[in-house]
Amino acid sequence: MKLMSRTSEIFPLNYKYHNLSKICLFAENILSSIIKDRELARIPGSCNNDNYSSIINKFSTFPSKGVSSEKVVGKIIRNFFCGVPLWRSPNLQYNVGSPVNVVSSAISAISQDVNIYNINTGLSGNALAAEHAVSNILCDLIDIDRDKGMGIFTFGGTATNLYSMKIAINKSCTDVSKNGVPKNIKFLITEDAHFSHAVAANWLGIGTNNLLTIPATKNRTSDTHLAEEIMESLIQNGDIVSGIILNGGTTYDHTVDDILGYSQLIDRLVNKFNLGYRPHIHVDSVIGWSWLVFSGYDFGNNPLKIDSDTLNKIHIQYQRISKLKYADSWGVDFHKGIGGCPVPCSVFMSNNKLDFLNISKNSEQLTKTHQIATEFSFDSPSDFTLETSRSGAAPLAALAALNSLGKQGYRKYLAKLISLTTSFKHKISNVVGFKIANITSLGFVTMLILVPRELNNLFGNKDFFEIMQDSSAEDIEKLNIYMKCFYKWDNQIRAEKKLTCIYSYSSSYIKSKDGISISALKFYPVSPHFSEKYVDQTVENLKKQKQIFDKNYWNNSKI
Ligand SMILES: Cc1ncc(COP(=O)(O)O)c(C=O)c1O
Repeated sequence: MKLMSRTSEIFPLNYKYHNLSKICLFAENILSSIIKDRELARIPGSCNNDNYSSIINKFSTFPSKGVSSEKVVGKIIRNFFCGVPLWRSPNLQYNVGSPVNVVSSAISAISQDVNIYNINTGLSGNALAAEHAVSNILCDLIDIDRDKGMGIFTFGGTATNLYSMKIAINKSCTDVSKNGVPKNIKFLITEDAHFSHAVAANWLGIGTNNLLTIPATKNRTSDTHLAEEIMESLIQNGDIVSGIILNGGTTYDHTVDDILGYSQLIDRLVNKFNLGYRPHIHVDSVIGWSWLVFSGYDFGNNPLKIDSDTLNKIHIQYQRISKLKYADSWGVDFHKGIGGCPVPCSVFMSNNKLDFLNISKNSEQLTKTHQIATEFSFDSPSDFTLETSRSGAAPLAALAALNSLGKQGYRKYLAKLISLTTSFKHKISNVVGFKIANITSLGFVTMLILVPRELNNLFGNKDFFEIMQDSSAEDIEKLNIYMKCFYKWDNQIRAEKKLTCIYSYSSSYIKSKDGISISALKFYPVSPHFSEKYVDQTVENLKKQKQIFDKNYWNNSKI
C-alpha cells in the first residue's frame, strides 16, 4: 500500500481514505482507558489551580515540526479533558448542560470536518436548509404558520436574548442603526431573569440602569399588575418601553410566565397611549421549550402511561409554554437538558419573520456585504445575523437529534426527569434538616436548603416560603454560611472519597424579604440514565454527609 503523504493524511481529499473516524476511534480508546467506571460524573485526572497553570505552560509553544496525529490527540485528551463533566452520567446533577445524542455528535463532527459556513448558500450549499427545517418544526410545535415564523441559529442562549433586544430596539426607535440608542429607552426583565438579559442590555448600549425588574409572585411568575404599573408610569414619563423579556422556564425553577396575559397587556397599552410602536415581547424559553414536545399529546388517554402526578405537572407547564405563539420571539437551546446537541446549538425564533427586516444590513444600505458575494446566493441569512461565519454543524446536529429520538423519545425523557425529581424532593424533604426551596416548581431541578441544628427549632415546621418571609437577616446569613461551608467541605470529601453524585450550589437562589440573597444547593439531573437508584443514593449520601459535617466539623469549627 502506498504510504500517504503527511499533507494527504492531515488534509484528506478522499473520504474513502479518511482519517477522521480512525482518529476518533483512537480518542475513544483513550477515553475508555481513562474513564473506567461508566458512572463517573467527571473525567478523572487532576484539575486544580497548579496543574492548570502547568498545562498552560506545557502547551504554550508552537512546535517547529508537526507531530503525529496519535501523539497530538493523546496529549490533548490526557491533559485537557481532566475534570470535564460527563453529561450522560446519571451521577452528574451539576447544571442544565445536555447529554449529547451520539448521532447528533457524529453529524456535528463530520460537518465540522467539511467545515460548512452557514453564511449564504454560496458558502453553505444545501446545509442552510437544515436551519429552515428545524425552524419549521419549531413553528409547528407552537402551532404558528410556517410562512410567518422563522428561526436562526446562533451562539448560545445569551445570543437569543441579545437578538431579541436588538430587534426590539430597532422596532421601537427608528434610525437607531445610524444614530445610536436614545437615552430614554427602557426594557423590562423579570426577578428571576438569567444574567444574560442584563449582559445584553450592557452590550447593546441600553445600559443596565435602564432595565426595570418585574417583581415575582409567590409562585415566581412575573406579576402582570405590577408590570402594567411600571410600563404605564414609564410611558407617561415619556420613555420608550422597547421590550420585555419574560420567563419561559427559568434556570432554577423552570417558571413560565403568563405569555398571553402579557400580550394582552401590551395591546392595551398600545391603544391607551396610542403608541407608535409595539413593545416587543421575547420569552427566554431556552430551557422551557422542552415542554413543547408534548404538543399534540393525548393527555386524556396518556398513551405513554406517564404517572398522574408527572402528567399533571407536564400538562400545566405545557399549557403555559404553548402560549409562546403570542410572543414576538423566543429562544431554544438544544445544548440544554433534553436537547441532546453539542454546544452551542441555539435558535432565535421570531414569530414574525418580517421583524428580521429591522436588523437587515442591506435594506437601508447601512453596510455593504460585498465580501461574501451575497448577490450570487439564493438564501442569505447573513443579511441579518450578527455573526458572519456561522457553523453549519449546529442546525444539522439539531436535526439529527430531533430525528433520532423522535417526539416520543423526547417526551419519555422529559417525563422521566420530572418524575424522578418529584421523587427526590419527596424523599429528601422527609429528612430532618432539609427543606425544598422550589416546592411550587413543575420542572426537574431541586433547590435544597440545609438547616444547621441550631436553627432547626426556628425553621423546623416552616416551609421555605415562610422561612423567606419571617427570618431575620442574621438567621439568613447563618443559613448561607452553613450551606456554603457544607458544600465546600462535601465537595472536597466527595473528590477524595470518589463519592458519586455531583451537584452544585447557588449563592443567590432567591432574595429574602430584606433583599438578602438566600443560597441553595442545586440538583439538576439531565441524564437519560438517571433512575430511582441514583435518587436513593443521593438522599442517603446527603443524609450521611450532613450528619458527619454537623457532628465533626460545623460545631468544632474544623472547616
Ligand atoms: C434561562 C436561561 N437563559 C439564558 C441562558 C444562557 O444560555 P447560554 O449559556 O447558552 O448562553 C441560560 C443558561 O443557563 C438560562 O438558564
